[in-house]
Amino acid sequence: MPNPTITQGLPCASDEPLGSARCPAPSVQDIIKQDLHKAPAVLTHENYEYLGSDDVGYGRYYEQSFFENEMEKIWGKTWQWVCREEHIPEAGDHYVYEVGYFSFIIIRQQDGGVKGFVNSCLHRSTKLRKGEGIGSAQELRCPYHGWTWSNEGDLKSVPCAWDFAHVDPDKFSLPEVRVGQWGGFIFINPGEEGPDLMEYLGVLPEHFANWDLDKRFVELHLAKELPCNWKTAQEAFLESYHVYETHPQLMAGVGDANVQYDIYGDHVSRFYAAVGVNSPHLSNPLSEQELVNAMLVGDRSVLNDDLTVGEGETARIVMARFLRQTLGEKYKSDLSGFSDSEIIDTVEYHLFPNMVLFPGLSLPMVYRFRPIGMNPGKCLFELLFLRPVPEDGEAPEPAEPHYVGENESYSSAPGMDPAFGAVYDQDTDNLRAQQQGFMASRKKGQTLGNYQEVRIRHLNKTIDKYLDDSIITK
Ligand SMILES: [Fe+2]
Repeated sequence: MPNPTITQGLPCASDEPLGSARCPAPSVQDIIKQDLHKAPAVLTHENYEYLGSDDVGYGRYYEQSFFENEMEKIWGKTWQWVCREEHIPEAGDHYVYEVGYFSFIIIRQQDGGVKGFVNSCLHRSTKLRKGEGIGSAQELRCPYHGWTWSNEGDLKSVPCAWDFAHVDPDKFSLPEVRVGQWGGFIFINPGEEGPDLMEYLGVLPEHFANWDLDKRFVELHLAKELPCNWKTAQEAFLESYHVYETHPQLMAGVGDANVQYDIYGDHVSRFYAAVGVNSPHLSNPLSEQELVNAMLVGDRSVLNDDLTVGEGETARIVMARFLRQTLGEKYKSDLSGFSDSEIIDTVEYHLFPNMVLFPGLSLPMVYRFRPIGMNPGKCLFELLFLRPVPEDGEAPEPAEPHYVGENESYSSAPGMDPAFGAVYDQDTDNLRAQQQGFMASRKKGQTLGNYQEVRIRHLNKTIDKYLDDSIITK
């Protein structure tokens, strides 16, 4: 790999409006204009918004009082995805979803609908189902004293009922939470107020209209407990600024400093990174053929004539052609309708508070970040790969979550590409030190880039709006 030497230097004041500066390299929009199969309209616009330059305070990452406020006003009042439809296909199938110290049971009903309940017995609070994940039952029976509810949430029986004459069964139905469905995902919202799911999703249904996430299956599901706040972990995946220092091996083939960042209302943001191009940081740019040879994704054992850059071609055109064919064959899907960009590029959407979606076909991930228990300094990071359901067959069963130990490499997980696992190791290895640094610092907050780190500011601004009640009460 060529030596990266860089556009380093020191900041200097400019008369230009804050937020207007960009990396001098070609933009993503410049790059995709050269493609053979042109990108759709949802990818050919920009929607950046300058959101200010003030520091983002460190206390929000470790203070117990801030954490408690988030539990009540964010995790208790926003739409959050629980599981995929295929996790609970039959009546009585349920999924226990936990976030911080909240716990919910989401149950498939006889009529095919879905209901969500607070996972806590109305007798003396014991969780009706212990632990996160999939289960199936005809009824919900408390393991402590045997109070029992139907899967519709109605109280069915109380042992020694003669002792509970003061209990009105009509007032002892399990507390219900709102449920919504989109893109093959089941969401809940524990709060009673605020928009329905489709309104909350903003531009997502329109942007994902041709990306068919409901026609995908969970190929791989990894989970890792991280020694940091849920925001600390999530923010490591909202910008590409860190690629230069954290993932230098990715610079041969990803436009990192010239990633596009977009903001869509309070709940949605995205980044859009061009793949198959040189990083603007590289002083000795790779040739188009070298860029193809450095390709990290796809089955590189099939090195053949398909990977030769022909006259008038770019690395991107060759990579898109190759991956359109090999991924199409592997997943028995016709990918001829997808543009080069949708095949090879990294487009990442964030849905507030904690969902990250990659609709592209070569790296089709979903992330989720959740607080664990009472501790602001711990979170669960999940990584799923969603692959197309074969057009000629049944969807495979969703992969079971595989828990990666804190000191284990992602590469050790069965089914994880080792080179890709190393990227996640690099990402998560920074987080303990950052979380500790919040408290060690004499400075009060994070100083963010106006453009490249705008999604971190956007996340925190939306958190602030929920905490001061300016969104939910609309
Ligand atoms: Fe990263």
